[in-house]
Amino acid sequence: MRATRLVLVAGIAAAGLALAGCSGGSGGGSAGGDGHGPITYVQGKDNNNIVRPLIDKWNAAHPKEKVTFKEQSDKADQQHDDLVQHFQAKSTDYDVVDVDVVWTAEFAAKGWLTPLEGQYKIDTSKLLPATVKTATYNGKLYAAPQASDGGLLYYRSDLVPTPPTSWDEMMKDCDIAKANGINCYAGQLAQYEGLTVNASEAINGAGGTVVDTSGKPTLTTSDAEKGLDQLVQGVKDGNIPQEVLTFQEEQGRTAFEAGKYLFMRNWPYAYSLATTDATSVVKDKFKVAPLVSASTLGGHNAAISTYSKNKATALDFVKFLESNETQTYFAQKGSLAPVVASLYDDPTLVKQLPYLPTLKESILKAVPRPVTPFYPAVTKAIQDNAYAALKGTDSTKDALDNMQKAIQSATAG
Ligand code: GLC
Repeated sequence: MRATRLVLVAGIAAAGLALAGCSGGSGGGSAGGDGHGPITYVQGKDNNNIVRPLIDKWNAAHPKEKVTFKEQSDKADQQHDDLVQHFQAKSTDYDVVDVDVVWTAEFAAKGWLTPLEGQYKIDTSKLLPATVKTATYNGKLYAAPQASDGGLLYYRSDLVPTPPTSWDEMMKDCDIAKANGINCYAGQLAQYEGLTVNASEAINGAGGTVVDTSGKPTLTTSDAEKGLDQLVQGVKDGNIPQEVLTFQEEQGRTAFEAGKYLFMRNWPYAYSLATTDATSVVKDKFKVAPLVSASTLGGHNAAISTYSKNKATALDFVKFLESNETQTYFAQKGSLAPVVASLYDDPTLVKQLPYLPTLKESILKAVPRPVTPFYPAVTKAIQDNAYAALKGTDSTKDALDNMQKAIQSATAG
């Protein structure tokens, strides 16, 4: 009798679990549910301190659908790995996640993102087309563009009256750095996603390409070699100091704000901090110009996790993130690159943010990184080999040959 009861109870519990597992799964056959209720929003470090005030505003207006902010580290690779671990565990803890443009294909192919179609459709007509593309995989939209990103050349306008327009010009200007006892150039050359960004910019800037339109690697060309070699030579002759081989975005920004560099390649977020940080000694001593090469296209998009239980609230929050009001706020307070096209031509905003036309130019000409579900292996191939060349462990040519082979094997079949 007792045994039978136990079996029965276990049976009911199992049926309950099965039901819970199916609840609301209308998001393209996804798990989770489409309820309203509290949600968690996950993104990398809020460098500009703009996310918390925004969430407070949302929470005041939505007391039953409060958003909790889960702030990750400031390092792109750690952010990626944290999301992967949660998705692999089918965690319902993450509802809206900030997806770097290069992770869309991987996460979509794995079924971790709710396609934004049917009841989850959003209006993309007002957005910069390039940003919509970064959130699209196999013709389907998987995330709402939230912030675009284009590289900018930060330069000490008190020391360099006219910014350089080519790599060679910039290296010549390094004499000015020497004369003033400061370093010349900082980018993101540590071994992580930022190195893929910077190495690709060098290669593209010299007329090379990383992959062709079908995604096949094209790195064994003299142009690609010339591009990567510019960075390698820069390190060899000290125009790019050794410490830059450990720099991600934040280390470069801090060093530039401390007045230690003549030039810095960084994203727009650094602008508002370098002009407002109490510790910035370059507040009124720098300007931004287009990079000497085309930028790599960066940016982040807000996606709804397949495993979220409150997808209806998640969708409303995603729409709130890409609203004109939030986009204007992100630009004004955090100097982020808007995804709403018209904001770049808004006279009041342009008056307040003089870098906007430069940023628009950077984004319009920006080159996307390879789009593939195997992106983690592709970026590893680029990072590992570019780093070996920068360290002098491999010649530039050998590094590019190895990069080519590693990308071929990562994407074959
Ligand atoms: C920025 C860009 C992103 C890029 C990352 C590299 O966050 O928006 O696309 O992958 O930097 O560190």
